[in-house]
Amino acid sequence: APTPVNVTVTGAAGQIGYALLFRIAAGDLLGEGVPVRLKLLEIPDAVKAAEGTALELNDSAFELLDGIDVYDDANQAFDGTNVALLVGARPRTKGMERADLLEANGGIFKPQGQALNGAADDVKVLVVGNPANTNALIARSNSDVPADRFTAMTRLDHNRALGQLATRYGVRVGAVSKVTIWGNHSASQYPDVTYTEIDGKPIGDEVDRSWLTDEFIPRVAKRGAEIIEVRGASSAASAAAAAIDHVHTWVNGTRENDWTSAAIVSDGSYGVPEGLVSSFPVTASNGEFEIVQGLEISDFSRERIDASVNELAEERDAVQKLGLV
Ligand code: NAI
Repeated sequence: APTPVNVTVTGAAGQIGYALLFRIAAGDLLGEGVPVRLKLLEIPDAVKAAEGTALELNDSAFELLDGIDVYDDANQAFDGTNVALLVGARPRTKGMERADLLEANGGIFKPQGQALNGAADDVKVLVVGNPANTNALIARSNSDVPADRFTAMTRLDHNRALGQLATRYGVRVGAVSKVTIWGNHSASQYPDVTYTEIDGKPIGDEVDRSWLTDEFIPRVAKRGAEIIEVRGASSAASAAAAAIDHVHTWVNGTRENDWTSAAIVSDGSYGVPEGLVSSFPVTASNGEFEIVQGLEISDFSRERIDASVNELAEERDAVQKLGLV
């Protein structure tokens, strides 16, 4: 039998955790027939709730689930892990300034970055907990794990864009390709359809500009708020689905003639300062993400990419001041 892959999920007792763990246990994260061993990390107060979820996972009789351990210690939870999904984070509460939020999350992602030194050599890290890009920057800066193993999630934004386009053009999402999310996983992000194709045909020149600027871009960028407004709670199952997609793509590759979006450590491509964890158009093969190169960037796109990247640079400056990176 194949050796099980160790998967660590932090924030395991949270609402994304509840949706995510059952998908992982069902074998959706890595691909057909790969057994998984789950390592759940929670804060001490929530360990019991995570243990409750572990009971339910056992009751689901997932054939690929090799076992579950629950921890309140990051060193133990990341020890020997192959895939680390960093979902647990400190949410913004009333009256909290951005600097307070960054500092509180630094208190989580700095020690977790250090604890990741005990992970397996091939570890892949996905940060979901917000502010995801900057939390990933903090973890990376405090870890000996190579920079290219740290990623943050903009796949939910990417999937939201696919959903909006499929509806607009009356096609299945599978017919839509080459959508890009640039920048930060925040309202400043830029969902870019310049190179988007429907059934392999570019839509670029025929896109209705007012639909693009007044509806599509703001709707994708502010979809999180829309979900809270309508559902009465923040995105959970869709966030879990996006985390599954992100890792599945990273491990198994992107399809021919397409790309996806992921926030990865910038190498300076497209004028994004080196070291920032920014979303790019990426392909994946052999377990590695690669930025799609050579795309011409219009003035319209440039302005929007720069605005989001500037926000990332401000967040980096703020955590630098706090001594977190
Ligand atoms: P939640 O509040 O339901 O769950 C978070 C869990 O994390 C809680 O159980 C909490 O005890 C745990 N936690 C807190 N600190 C921890 C630590 N140091 N170690 C381990 N666990 C810890 O939140 P939910 O809805 O599950 O969301 C989780 C995060 O994901 C939030 O930061 C949210 O903003 C973010 N998010 C990101 C998205 C993205 O697209 N990147 C989309 C949706 C949510």
